[in-house]
Amino acid sequence: MAEDQTKQEEINRERWLQEELQLEERIHQAINPGGEKAVARLAQQGKRPVRELIQALIDPDTEFFELGVVAGFGLDYPGGIKDVPCAGLVTGLGKIHGNWSMIFANDSRVKAGTYFPITLKKHMRAQAIAEQCGLNCVYIADSGGAFLPMQADVFPDDGHFGSMFYNMARMSAMGLKQITLSTGGNTAGGAYIVFMADEALMIEGLAYSFLGGPPLVKAAIGEDIDAEALGGALVHTRISGGADHLCKDQLEGVHKVREILSQEVQQRIHLQRFEELPPAASEEMIYDLMPAGIHQAVDIRRIIECFSDGVGLQEYKRNYAPGRGDNLVTGKIRIKGIPVGVVAANNSGIIFVESARKATEFIIRCAMERTPLLFIQNSPGYMVGSDAEHRGIGKYGADMVRAVSNARVPRIQLVVGPDNGAANYGMCGRAYKPHFLFSTMRARTSVMSGRSAAEVLLSIERRKRKLKHEEMTDAEAAAFKKELLDKYESEAHPFYCGARLFNDRVLFFKEIRKALALALEVSLLAPISDSTFGNFRF
Ligand code: COA
Repeated sequence: MAEDQTKQEEINRERWLQEELQLEERIHQAINPGGEKAVARLAQQGKRPVRELIQALIDPDTEFFELGVVAGFGLDYPGGIKDVPCAGLVTGLGKIHGNWSMIFANDSRVKAGTYFPITLKKHMRAQAIAEQCGLNCVYIADSGGAFLPMQADVFPDDGHFGSMFYNMARMSAMGLKQITLSTGGNTAGGAYIVFMADEALMIEGLAYSFLGGPPLVKAAIGEDIDAEALGGALVHTRISGGADHLCKDQLEGVHKVREILSQEVQQRIHLQRFEELPPAASEEMIYDLMPAGIHQAVDIRRIIECFSDGVGLQEYKRNYAPGRGDNLVTGKIRIKGIPVGVVAANNSGIIFVESARKATEFIIRCAMERTPLLFIQNSPGYMVGSDAEHRGIGKYGADMVRAVSNARVPRIQLVVGPDNGAANYGMCGRAYKPHFLFSTMRARTSVMSGRSAAEVLLSIERRKRKLKHEEMTDAEAAAFKKELLDKYESEAHPFYCGARLFNDRVLFFKEIRKALALALEVSLLAPISDSTFGNFRF
């Protein structure tokens, strides 16, 4: 028995280490667009790679927590563009004089830092986190503006280009500092990233900002002028007043941003934090415990033990409805001293009436007590069938969704397995606006499993053919199913979802504890409001 277990653990570990090698590779591609050649070109321009600038901007010996690193890969954009590494924009959290701040930096190595639809989505997501958590924003701006071949997809709509500046204006009015360090081009609409800032810094000879660049000026009014004389750093800091500080190079700019933010009030979290205790089990054990098969049963209590403080899980209704109730494990844990209520899909993760009712109760209690919530998603869905339907799985599932939607406490989702159907809603998927949504290489997010989708669509196809008096051969049916399985397998994958920013970051198992603690800390910087829930059916 013990031998079997060791063997299974070896299989598990092997699989996840292999998968995480792919994640490392993808991250490498994201942070090195264009390779050494691109870095050399930057150097010629007097620029450093953006992550070096960010490292200089944040407090010494602290880490930048990057978001959406795998965004932008495998998209089908016009002109045969498939990959926009890292969406051409670096976003993430870093501490500046002890205060968590949201940092944005265009990567000019990716199509001159222009905005594709995915770039905008990433920019908006980072702004949304900043607004929700009450963070100052620093924009390291170096962008050719809208990616012009896709203007209709990036310019006119809500959530497009104009929303970046709308958000800046509103956050500024809320007292969240908006600081722009322009280190390159900021043309046309892009110029507003400089002019909308509370304080803007420009680098002599490197940064410029204008509503129309030299070619446009020539075409429009016949004026011959170069970029520097039209809207360079000297123009805006000495003549127009559109920017506030003149810097001689990027590093001086970064230091000046730090100086500007040095007077900010120190942030504090709105919850009592306990002393941090190490987990009872090692984080490395997650690799052994996480089943290699996506649909294999998970012992989620043991996984929780690997990343939560060693005070243990204070479980809510552990004995309720054995075999059904505990497909969702609910209870309080602490992560690096921060108390959090956890709702975690256990075993097969199928949500029964009893699991849904228990989870709803627990979510409401946490909201009333102002305890943040962590949803560990590993659920293929709510139970189906007449028994479940007649006992009210629809209404109890809906109650859970209502509780999740209205709980005004910080909510974080971590996906470690299947993430299908309405369980995606009840477990606080993207549409439920969790403060942070983390994925892992075991996550599979799709409306249903590929197997189920293939069966549903095959039955429809067979019906259609029957009406036309056609037969489907076994070989045709198998090919039909395989095509769908492959499609679902690829679309449910964390890279596919991460490329489209359905998650905020794909985590290595070994960084779950650190990432969750950081996300909780940042989410708790804004005061927690009262929750009201509307009408349940119960
Ligand atoms: N839309 C689409 N593609 C753009 C672009 C834009 N707005 N701006 C730059 N690019 C592309 C270039 O065609 C080039 O593509 P390639 O690598 O396939 O050849 C790539 O981005 C790099 O541009 P490049 O001009 O070589 O970089 P640079 O560092 O020398 O100059 C800029 C950067 C931003 C100064 C310059 O590209 C520029 O002036 N762009 C136009 C800016 C503009 O007018 N924008 C208005 C939009 S609101």
